[in-house]
Amino acid sequence: MIGTTEAGQKENLSGGKPFNVEEVRQDFPLLERQVNGQRLVYLDSGASSQKPRSVIDRVSHYYCREHANIHRGVHHLSQHATEAYEGVRETARRFLNAGHGHEILFTKGTTESINLVASSFGRKFLNPGDEVLVSMMEHHSNIVPWQMICQERQARLRVVPINRAGELDMDALESLLNERTRLVSVAHVSNALGTINPARDITALAHERQIPVLLDGAQAVPHMHVDVQDLDVDFYAFSAHKMFGPTGVGVLYGKEELLDAMPPYQGGGEMIERVTFDRTTFSTLPYKFEAGTPSIADGMGFGAAMAYYDQFDEQEVIAHEQDLLTYATDQLCELDGLKIIGTAAHKAGVISFVFEDVHPFDVGTILDQLGIAVRTGHHCAQPLMDFYGIPGTVRASFAMYNNRSDVDALVAGVRKAARLLR
Ligand code: ALA
Repeated sequence: MIGTTEAGQKENLSGGKPFNVEEVRQDFPLLERQVNGQRLVYLDSGASSQKPRSVIDRVSHYYCREHANIHRGVHHLSQHATEAYEGVRETARRFLNAGHGHEILFTKGTTESINLVASSFGRKFLNPGDEVLVSMMEHHSNIVPWQMICQERQARLRVVPINRAGELDMDALESLLNERTRLVSVAHVSNALGTINPARDITALAHERQIPVLLDGAQAVPHMHVDVQDLDVDFYAFSAHKMFGPTGVGVLYGKEELLDAMPPYQGGGEMIERVTFDRTTFSTLPYKFEAGTPSIADGMGFGAAMAYYDQFDEQEVIAHEQDLLTYATDQLCELDGLKIIGTAAHKAGVISFVFEDVHPFDVGTILDQLGIAVRTGHHCAQPLMDFYGIPGTVRASFAMYNNRSDVDALVAGVRKAARLLR
């Protein structure tokens, strides 16, 4: 599934291993366990995916055989760890088809990636009266950092509306772009609705007016091929833990000229060139933005996670997940009183739904007793729930290891919950 060359040529790095969901399931040890005496049906990969053995083993091997701090020692272990960690940066560059390795910043995850841009870009480029554009369907992590910096800089947060299907109103987006807009920051895929936003159209509209665009790719990278050069996006944020990697590590991709122009986000070791008590000069990219010892072992696991994806033909994986989405949607739609929230024409593997007069939490609790893990609540998207006038939804989210039996179990579980609760 990994990308294209620096010259923009499609590079076939995919192992092309035929996709077989039952074989894939064998790679994920946790899927073998039972919950509440039942087969685990894990439908909460939107919150965090399970991990293949190769990722778990990579983290363990690092601690058993390779651990030392990176970028700091002349000794063998430190040099080896540095090389391996920087190798992961190169893998991430290829994964996103970024032009340069130094455009890949390692962070704690999507939330930190967005906070980094809000804090650093915001302090440099936002002035009183300026505007930042987000959308109605954003996760709190793509709202609150912007609210905070807009308040500090006396700038204004503006919101692109959506239609009832959960699709961005692109005409409204265009009309909200103006000479005061400094940045557009939107989800590539909505965590609560599954909507795939038209990223290329958004960057084209914004760039006509020289406005940079950040895409929150947390829910996109696990489900589709992302090419930052093709999208022509200025910043792209995602987390490893939603794409089979460890928690605590993620990426911020940023175009070199923007990152170069932005001040450091945090001060500390590794991000400096020279420190005196009078003055500090900063390191070059990407280190300027990577203060302190990172989560090195998790970085190694992240590399293994990208390699795991890379074995498969991406089209086969996408087709499998789309099949699950259609299969589940068709059956859930038939249940009396169930309403799907988020019916966009283009969706990734997320189904959110509500039942009239039944709290999502109660449905989730019954499903849990049946060994079915879903997320219930507002999904860190309270403004979106307000738009629909609901407290929350039940959300089933898929990964490539889910199969049709998981969907059958979900549908049977929801039917049972409806019988008991309504
Ligand atoms: N952002 C994650 C989710 O949507 C936690 O569940």
